[in-house]
This record gives sequence, C-alpha cells and structure tokens, in this order.
Amino acid sequence: MASEQEQAELQERSRGLPQVEVGSRQLADLEMLAVGAYSPLSGFMNRGDYLGSVDAMHLSNGLPWSVPITLPVGAKQAESLKEGMQIGLVDAHGALQAVMTIEEKFGYDKEHEASKVYRTTEEAHPGVKVLYQQGDILLGGPVRVVALQNQAFAKYRFTPTQSRQQFVERGWKRVVGFQTRNPVHRAHEYIQKCALETVDGLYLHPLVGDTKGDDIPADVRMCCYEVLLENYYPASRVILGVLPAAMRYAGPREAIFHALMRKNYGCSHFIVGRDHAGVGNYYGTYDAHHIFAEFDAARLGIMPMFFDHTFFCRSCDSMASSKTCPHGSEHHVTLSGTRVRQLLQAGEIPPREFSRPEVAEVLIEAMRQPVA
Ligand code: ADX
Repeated sequence: MASEQEQAELQERSRGLPQVEVGSRQLADLEMLAVGAYSPLSGFMNRGDYLGSVDAMHLSNGLPWSVPITLPVGAKQAESLKEGMQIGLVDAHGALQAVMTIEEKFGYDKEHEASKVYRTTEEAHPGVKVLYQQGDILLGGPVRVVALQNQAFAKYRFTPTQSRQQFVERGWKRVVGFQTRNPVHRAHEYIQKCALETVDGLYLHPLVGDTKGDDIPADVRMCCYEVLLENYYPASRVILGVLPAAMRYAGPREAIFHALMRKNYGCSHFIVGRDHAGVGNYYGTYDAHHIFAEFDAARLGIMPMFFDHTFFCRSCDSMASSKTCPHGSEHHVTLSGTRVRQLLQAGEIPPREFSRPEVAEVLIEAMRQPVA
C-alpha cells in the first residue's frame, strides 16, 4: 500500500501511463496484496513463481503457495505493453487503483493450470471457467496500491495488522481461523466450537469476495453470523472479520491457500472440514486434509485442525461426526443444499438440529426479497 504522499505522486505519474482495466477478481487481489494478506507476495506473479505455484505448490524462494495470483490481459492489449514499463491499473470507472511495474510478460497454458490447480479441465468447474475466460497473456511484477475502493463490511474489514493487534489485546496466543462461503449451520458451529475448546480464540473469517452465482450473497451470510454470535457465542472468545479474496473452488489447493492467508491474519490454527472449498464432485471428501501432508509444517507456519463430516445424531442426541458416532446415517440429520433451499424458499424453517432458527429466519427473509 502506498503511503499518502506516494499515492499523490502515483496519481500524478499515472496520467502519462498506459492503463489496464482490472476486474473484481484482480481488484480483490490488489487489496489482499496491499494489506499483506498475500505475504510474501508483493505483486502479480512472474513466470518463476507462477510455474512454481502451479507445478510444485511452492514459490521460487521455497515458500509454500498453492494457487497462482496472476494478472491476465488480452493478447491484443499485451502487444503494446513491454517489460520494464509502468502501467496504471484502473477499475471499470477508470479510477486508478495501483501502479504496476511490468517485470515479465508471458504466455501460459490454461489447461495445464486447470489440471494442476483444479484437478480438472472441465469448463463446468467454476474456477476453471474463470481461468478459460480470462486473457491469454500474464503480466508479472510488483504493485503499489493507491486506493482500496471496496469498503463493504467496513466494520469487519480488518487488515492482517489489525486482526493481529486484536488478538494481542485480548491476550490470545493460539487462535483458530475459520474459512466459509456458505450460510452458517450447526455443523459449522460444532466444528468451530470443538476447535475453540482447545485454543484461546476463534477468528470467524467468511470470504466476501466473488463467489459463484448460486452461492448465498455475503451480506446475507454476514447477517446470519451476527444473529448467531448474538445468541450462541461468547463475545470474549470470538472475533468476526471478513476475507476480501475471491473464491476459487480449488478444493485441496485452496485449503492450503486459505490457511496461508489466515496465517497472515495472525491465526496459529486453521479449520479444515469435509470437502473444504469443494464444488460438485471434483474432490474427495478428505482430499483437503491429505494435501497438508505434502508440506513442511514449519514452512506452512499454521496448524491445520481437521474435522470429519459432522451432523446431528438423533440417537447420540448431540452433534457428532463420522469419527465419533457409532450410528447409521438413518439416525443423522443431514440435508442437501438443494433441500435446504427448497425449505427456505417455501418459508419453512429447517430442523433446529440442522440450522439455528434465528439463522433460518434471516435466510427466509433474504429469499423473500425480490431479485434485483
Ligand atoms: S468452503 O467452500 O468455505 O469450504 P463452507 O462454508 O461450507 O464451504 O465450509 C466452511 C468450512 O466448514 C470448511 O472447512 C468445510 O470443510 C467445513 N464444513 C462444512 N460443512 C461441514 C460438515 N457438515 N462437516 C464437517 N465440516 C464441514
């Protein structure tokens, strides 16, 4: 992030620079870079880091990194851009967001990236779809960020420095981070609280960047968290913040990426449940657990806390998991996402063993709103 004085200088200088318009994914990446959430990255990836992260899940300096952070442009636009040049990165309204020095300009193999990062080359995968639709040339190089435009959820939009500061103020040494993109349900609550039993604090960190069209919007999910915290969580042990990054749906690769970001936000531990960051049937239920074995724990620098599939069991009369419950699935209260949507759309509250009624009410209310 440029200092105030530097921002003024960059604004001035950018007038003479070629402009490249960036979309919402890259705007979110710029914010993540500016606040240090992508540390140690300080810009969009050059070829070495790009290939390192795609092929070997490590940067050229040897540190773990499992998802490439790139700035794609169309081949035609790329023709006029040269290595060594500075460019202004602007949003859709032409407002300057950052000044970037192009260190490298290079082509890349989208299918190769898809098969490595997403474990599929099918366009039906939402992460692969974004990849196939983006420009064919990548620009790599450091950025100086001038503006952080997105102020949604300002009350919860803590930078890594701010969240770390809060953990220190509360005297928390062991903090577990929780990634989520879905409305909170009892299984989420159960694994969050199980994890909290063994550490000092819980950092609830819903992702609020781009998600696929049929995911529940972030503002609705945040309202769900607000009512849940009010009614069921001890304020002294829980902080709610937002992660501005876009969702990639890269399953196991993204579990590593999610963990690395939460390390930067100051977490010592990170929850990885069933099919973390998964979509459809692209990943095995516990692939996102297994991938951690491929990394050196010290280099990763954050401890994963793995949870099996959890549910309410009528015979145990409690929340449980496939690890702790001896009863068959006919005893379990599990609902598919589609079934939950049907219930909510009909204005019906799902069973309280599945969802807290206060949360269900927020969701029913949101579904009543006419679609804009
Ligand atoms: S995700 O894309 O962010 O992973 P979601 O918000 O559904 O989706 O999940 C958040 C976290 O809770 C992930 O670590 C996921 O693995 C875990 N999780 C979700 N549902 C369950 C469940 N029923 N049992 C165990 N873990 C779960």
